[in-house]
Amino acid sequence: MPEKTFYITTPIYYPSDRLHVGHSYTTVAADAMARFKRLTGYDVWFLTGTDEHGQKIQRSADAAGKDPQLFVDEIVDWIKQLWAALDISYNDFIRTTEPRHRKAVQNIFSRLYEQGDIYKGRYEGLYCTPCESFWTARQVEDGNCPDCGRPVEMVSEEGYFFRMSRYAPRLLKHIQENPQFIQPPSRKNEMINNFLEPGLEDLCVSRSTFDWGIPIPFAPGNVVYVWLDALSNYITALGYTSADETLMHKYWPADVHLMAKEIVRFHTIYWPIFLMALGLPLPKQVFGHGWLILQEGKMSKSQGNVVDPMVLMERYGSDSLRYFLLREIPFGADGVFSNESMLQRINTDLANDLGNLQSRTVTMVERYFEGQLPQPDSKEEEMDRELKELALATSARIEEFMDKLQFSGALEELWMLVRRSNKYIDENTPWALAKDKGKRDRLGTVLYNLCESLRFIGVLLLPYMPHTPQRIWRQLGMEHLPQLQSWESLNRWGMLEPGTRIERTEDLFPRLDIDKELKVLFGDTRKEEESQKEKKDSSAEKPGIIDIEDFASLDIRVGEILDAEPVPKADKLLKMTVDLGKEQRQIIAGIAQFYKPQELVGKKALFVANLKPAKIRGLLSEGMVMAATDSEGRVALTGVDKDFPPGSKIS
Ligand code: MSP
Repeated sequence: MPEKTFYITTPIYYPSDRLHVGHSYTTVAADAMARFKRLTGYDVWFLTGTDEHGQKIQRSADAAGKDPQLFVDEIVDWIKQLWAALDISYNDFIRTTEPRHRKAVQNIFSRLYEQGDIYKGRYEGLYCTPCESFWTARQVEDGNCPDCGRPVEMVSEEGYFFRMSRYAPRLLKHIQENPQFIQPPSRKNEMINNFLEPGLEDLCVSRSTFDWGIPIPFAPGNVVYVWLDALSNYITALGYTSADETLMHKYWPADVHLMAKEIVRFHTIYWPIFLMALGLPLPKQVFGHGWLILQEGKMSKSQGNVVDPMVLMERYGSDSLRYFLLREIPFGADGVFSNESMLQRINTDLANDLGNLQSRTVTMVERYFEGQLPQPDSKEEEMDRELKELALATSARIEEFMDKLQFSGALEELWMLVRRSNKYIDENTPWALAKDKGKRDRLGTVLYNLCESLRFIGVLLLPYMPHTPQRIWRQLGMEHLPQLQSWESLNRWGMLEPGTRIERTEDLFPRLDIDKELKVLFGDTRKEEESQKEKKDSSAEKPGIIDIEDFASLDIRVGEILDAEPVPKADKLLKMTVDLGKEQRQIIAGIAQFYKPQELVGKKALFVANLKPAKIRGLLSEGMVMAATDSEGRVALTGVDKDFPPGSKIS
């Protein structure tokens, strides 16, 4: 059987050391797709790179007082580091300043000239330098570029032109006959109505007023127009016109060119026309996703959001950032990026749903079966069947979403399995089964099924969060068993070997204190935190270790609960009157699910007495009861092991 190939590209990026989460969005999506296709058996080629020529770059280099090549070299190194931090698994990174690309673009230009698609003429018209894009008087809006809104410049120069009109009818027909070619469909209509139907003008494909570009071999003083140069990367990287065209034969035409919507025009009009002129097949799909709307501000301004992906990854890890980008906004639509929504997603989906599922499951196997995966029994109950059937059906559902590049839909499907597994714990209450000797087989089956479900979840997560599956599998004792980690292994339920060592080694996603995180991100406490960190680093202390003075600032005392009653309309809260020795206080605590009010009266527990008073559901709370929480979320009050009087201080 011939190998299934899949060729996916991102746009090549303008070298900038200010790439933000918006730029990362395209690349993370392409990476998830590439990983998904590899996982499902395709031979994938994933290309990204940098678009290094043109007047804009030359001006930036001049402004920085640097030679353009040196200027771009430094930035490209930084971009590669960013992609490494985000786990971008590209197969090739092309730079348009590389000889392999320059040579091939020169070959392409000469060929198009020789066959009469390019001719010499004079260009007089409007040009937007930031977008490197030509406009007609009809298209500009009040002297401004219709794409970016910045002023266009009048340019007049001798140049070389591409006969766009020659291919326009063929392109229009292709677009109309191939609904998959431009996705999502709204972008297709825009291209037809705004560009193709009004008629295409010939395109100036050379520039002579600056020299930072690929020289046109037969026309000294002219360089190739940056978009013809840049778009060609998709084939020059495959060796087009070089001595070795193996990759070109194997992977061209591309399965998908991915990008944000503002550059769809270049990819669905200019690019296919250049390809037609070269006699090459057109890419199967051009997908223009929406924008991440950034309330961009400087990193430590109090309003705005931190949009530097490096900073976000440093704090929350690359898997969390990738998950958020892919899950939050349906791919294709615009969406607002905010730090708060990111933190909330990390807490709900990752810490609560996935993290708790993992820690509850593994802890229970440790506790009830000494960390050895139990043998499931052959009796299958309805809920076992439901869990198993959902797990077995999820991969096909995810594949359907992925074929439409609907990352967020795919993740939603995956989370249905995560949530169903959590519900399975609640339905089966393993802690209750554990108390009954006669239910030991049932307890084993429940825990086995949960571990197996986690195995499935790990495999399904691979394209989106490359590190998390390993962390799940390590705890399930299957990190070195590739046959349990493949896409095919999702066709079989029950592959984990009973008796395998199960071990809780870490929490996958510790819960974040959102208020604190926002303060840190917005810079309020950043300086403070940094200076604290420096202090700690200099005394060679471990993170999380506190000084004795930090502890001494807490006033912890024994208190006696004199009275307790429920808080109306708050089923988790109890209102207590507590004797703290010299005084009585009202303290509100979230323990109603674990203690009945009458059980508490007369009980002694430990209280933090110097906590700033706060209003909880409109009731004043002057202190906090100290309680332990176990991995199943149960709560127990703390105390001292002798009957000490209220007010006794803990030190
Ligand atoms: N160099 C051109 C592409 C040439 S392709 C032959 C270019 N580069 S870019 O660096 O400006 O953009 C790279 C990618 O990031 C593009 O897909 C661009 O649309 C995307 N994004 C930049 N800001 C973005 C957001 N705020 N949101 C989503 N995508 C964004 O264009």
